[in-house]
Amino acid sequence: MSETSLIERQLASGVLTLRMNRPEKKNALNRAMYGALAEALEGANADEAVRAVLLLGGEGHFSSGNDIADFAGFDAKAGLAEVLRFLHALVDLEKPLVAGVDGLAVGIGTTVLFHCDLAYATPRSSFRTPFLDLGLVPEAGSSLLAPGLMGHQRAFALLVLGEALSAEEALATGLLVGVGDEAEALARDAVVRLAAKPPEALRIARRLMRGDGAAVRARIEDEAAAFAERLVSAEARAAFAAFFDRRAR
Ligand code: COA
Repeated sequence: MSETSLIERQLASGVLTLRMNRPEKKNALNRAMYGALAEALEGANADEAVRAVLLLGGEGHFSSGNDIADFAGFDAKAGLAEVLRFLHALVDLEKPLVAGVDGLAVGIGTTVLFHCDLAYATPRSSFRTPFLDLGLVPEAGSSLLAPGLMGHQRAFALLVLGEALSAEEALATGLLVGVGDEAEALARDAVVRLAAKPPEALRIARRLMRGDGAAVRARIEDEAAAFAERLVSAEARAAFAAFFDRRAR
């Protein structure tokens, strides 16, 4: 399958829609998908026709998180290049990012939402980051952004204890702005309205509200250094093997 079909892109009414499209793995993000998402976000900054970006997943699965096969095959030499390119592209994005979630949002499927300006989800959605159970640590700037959004203890319960948030709980913590059966339609309506705003004012307003991103960029790098070490740890290797053993049974 080509990169472009794993991440579908469509530009209409000033909105670049990026849809993760790997249903057979519940939208587990592999390196090619991170690369394609990064390229699309980088391109959005340079393209005047793009006024705002909409991120979507599949029916019942927004994303099952990073591809565990990629984790298991992690090569210290190649490092986390595609993932880091994507995370920095998120921080460097100059246009509003809106998400519509239905169903599972695991790992990066949850932490990507900390980078969104507006996120909507269906009532059946759930948000979970099993980093610790995989012998890993929080990523994507979440160790900084989650406590800022929801306070230390709720962030700790999500990121370290690994407790899932329901859609209603995610709404209450501020991870979402809206919950509804038609979450994609809600997200699309909001992003189209954003795309119709005066673009210069929109860019400046967003920058004022998000800051320059320096602290988030630095935290992403700190997390990535720890994450790369953890990926080759005995704890993590055992957790990845257990995941695939469970699948094989
Ligand atoms: N990486 C690689 N493959 C994954 C995956 C992931 N993160 N998540 C799901 N898959 C694969 C499964 O191995 C399975 O593949 P198979 O059909 O070839 O066996 C397929 O996607 C469907 O998943 P399945 O587990 O059968 O669906 P489910 O509805 O029972 O459970 C999840 C869905 C997401 C709860 C479960 O797959 C899971 O826990 N995945 C791992 C999530 C995770 O830890 N992500 C990393 C976060 S840092």
